[in-house]
Amino acid sequence: MTATKGLEGIVATTSSISSIIDGVLTYRGYNIDDLAENATFEEVVYLLWYGKLPNQSELAELQAQLSEHTAIPNAVVEQIKLYPSDTNTMAALRSAISALALYDNTANDMSYEANITKAIKLQAQLPTIVATLARVRAGKEPVAPQAGKSIAYNFLYMLSGQEPEASAVTAMDKALVLHADHELNASTFAARVTVATLSDIYSGVTSAIGALKGPLHGGANEAVMVMLNEIGTFDRVDDYIQSKLDNKDKIMGFGHRVYKNGDPRAKHLQKMSEELGRANGDSTLYDMSVRIEELITGQKGLKPNVDFYSASTYTMLGIAGELFTPIFAISRVSGWTAHILEQFENNRIIRPRAEYTGPSHQTYVHLQNR
Ligand code: ACO
Repeated sequence: MTATKGLEGIVATTSSISSIIDGVLTYRGYNIDDLAENATFEEVVYLLWYGKLPNQSELAELQAQLSEHTAIPNAVVEQIKLYPSDTNTMAALRSAISALALYDNTANDMSYEANITKAIKLQAQLPTIVATLARVRAGKEPVAPQAGKSIAYNFLYMLSGQEPEASAVTAMDKALVLHADHELNASTFAARVTVATLSDIYSGVTSAIGALKGPLHGGANEAVMVMLNEIGTFDRVDDYIQSKLDNKDKIMGFGHRVYKNGDPRAKHLQKMSEELGRANGDSTLYDMSVRIEELITGQKGLKPNVDFYSASTYTMLGIAGELFTPIFAISRVSGWTAHILEQFENNRIIRPRAEYTGPSHQTYVHLQNR
């Protein structure tokens, strides 16, 4: 038995949800470029869960179901108020999602009907939880979402308590479309491993959030913003990046296990970042990002991934860095739950082997003789 570090190149399951073939990402066979330009996030959620694009009445029904479930239990709001205000937002989100299961009496019902309803609830409640976390930290009361509005609209509305601009809603919606699913990424794999033991959907999503939190995965978008803030001004970019490269530090937001010729999602976020910079009359973050890309691609051949331009995009939308990875979760919960449902359809416990590299033929020495 020989281990493959990081399971690189290992095909661990079949899936009909999303694919990355020759650098092209599709959801259910639809090119991400096409979806990013044309579909709303709710259409994509439907596509991921049900395997086809919704017609108007199917979409209206899903929107009504999502609207019905946006509220979170009061007990969870009260718990959130007790979390330390300086804790990592993804850690707080992980705890709150786990807590949701305690207040859902269908949490352990493993029927398809119960699980798809829980998927709807998780998709509807996750934005409410993230906005609640943000507002409570800022010492403000949570804001209830508006009925009949999109997830992108309501998330921005719940954050600020004010009607968001149409352009901000469009940008957020597109970001959600771009992050919704991504084949067998680390957090989706974590979700599938968890539920393949026949544990419940909340456990699967909680595992996924734990995996997404890490800076080599979803946490990279926040880390990119930390880097941009450390650099501060355009004229400092070259020296900063050169010293990182000299120290052999990783540059967050670059590189990818699967894409070697560039992440197809990155160009959409780059365009959004450029447009927001122009609309805001301040392109500093965009210009800095482009210069970083020139340096990293030029010297290391590494291309930006989905996280790189999302940092400047979200910042220009007025969103704090600590919410970037939770926004990723707001979108990716659609993919996680689609994969969990798919795992349940044809389940077998996921239990690979390890190549043992420890000592052998040891002789037990009694405690008193050690
Ligand atoms: N900066 C500098 N060097 C890098 C970077 C980077 N961002 N990414 C890869 N490299 C280098 C590695 O040091 C390694 O060099 P070596 O062969 O000389 O040791 C080589 O490129 C291969 O990189 P690995 O880390 O082995 O690639 P792996 O497939 O294991 O990791 C990963 C992929 C985690 C995305 C990696 O590129 C990385 O750490 N990037 C930065 C974090 C990041 O942006 N994560 C988000 C990924 S997208 C997502 O999950 C949403």
